[in-house]
Amino acid sequence: MQLEETARRLVAPERGILAADESSATIGKRFEALGLPCTVESRRAYRELLFSSPGIERYLSGVILYEETLKQTAQSGERFVDLLTSREILPGIKVDGGAKPFAGHPGEFVTEGLDGLRERLSSYRDLGARFTKWRAVISIDALRPSRCAVRSNAEALARYAMLAQEQGLVPIVEPEVLMEGDHDQARCEVVTVEVLNRVFEALHAHGACLEGLILKPNMVVAGKKCPAQPTVEAVAGATLRTLARSVPSAVPGIAFLSGGQTPERATAHLNAMNQSAHPLPWQVTFSFSRALQEPPLSAWAGQTDRVATAQKLFAHRVHLNSLARMGRYSHELEGAV
Ligand code: G3H
Repeated sequence: MQLEETARRLVAPERGILAADESSATIGKRFEALGLPCTVESRRAYRELLFSSPGIERYLSGVILYEETLKQTAQSGERFVDLLTSREILPGIKVDGGAKPFAGHPGEFVTEGLDGLRERLSSYRDLGARFTKWRAVISIDALRPSRCAVRSNAEALARYAMLAQEQGLVPIVEPEVLMEGDHDQARCEVVTVEVLNRVFEALHAHGACLEGLILKPNMVVAGKKCPAQPTVEAVAGATLRTLARSVPSAVPGIAFLSGGQTPERATAHLNAMNQSAHPLPWQVTFSFSRALQEPPLSAWAGQTDRVATAQKLFAHRVHLNSLARMGRYSHELEGAV
């Protein structure tokens, strides 16, 4: 019951999730692009900027943390977990060990991290985490994905979800079909349907409680290098069709990743889905990293005197996505910071 309640809370109306779980290497690349050093302290300061932004608690149900951040404190000495909890934002944690090259399948990846996971989950729960995330990545090209890569990643996601639920932690199940490449939207749709079907087949085989998990999928878009880019309505339509064909209605919510879309596009797509004329069986919300963080990160760029401006931009982005999550966003609101 606790799992179901937490899952429902994560996808409550008007709310969504901030993914702030970038590994030190990934956030290091984003800092480097701005000429910022990537140190334990710069990462801590940046995360404090995000978590202490005024007003975000109205629109954020949860934040996914990286292990380092789960154990860090704000400048005041308050643990980030307590800071978030006191704002009624649930703390979560990314628990996978990263996508590693898949032996025998050049260009494909399998996510590792199952060894010792039960013990890690138990310690994260003791530190205050209430939910978890595991990301699998699936690449598309003429020969990929292989059936083997899809099945291996689906199996790992299901084993992770079972362990998380055993420890009383809601699993966010994230099978990401990547946007890299020149494939068209139709190919993304075929691959995403196949991936989601294999993921739910594995979850079913392992006996996962569907009511106590959240799905975090990609939207059905064309590859970044595809010359024919679909409209906002076409992305929303194909994504909802894909989900309807693959995701049982017992799942309480779908919280999308942004995957490299611009912040505006990701918000517009989420909004169009929530304006669907047909009632949706699940809550449909956001769990973005880049699409929420790009504006505040560039505005901050490591300067203490820009913290307040960056926080305003972050809170604005979160608010726009809250509106989109209810189908109430419009492009005109973009400038109204
Ligand atoms: O694992 C990826 C994050 O949870 C979502 O990141 O919104 O930048 O794709 P993104």
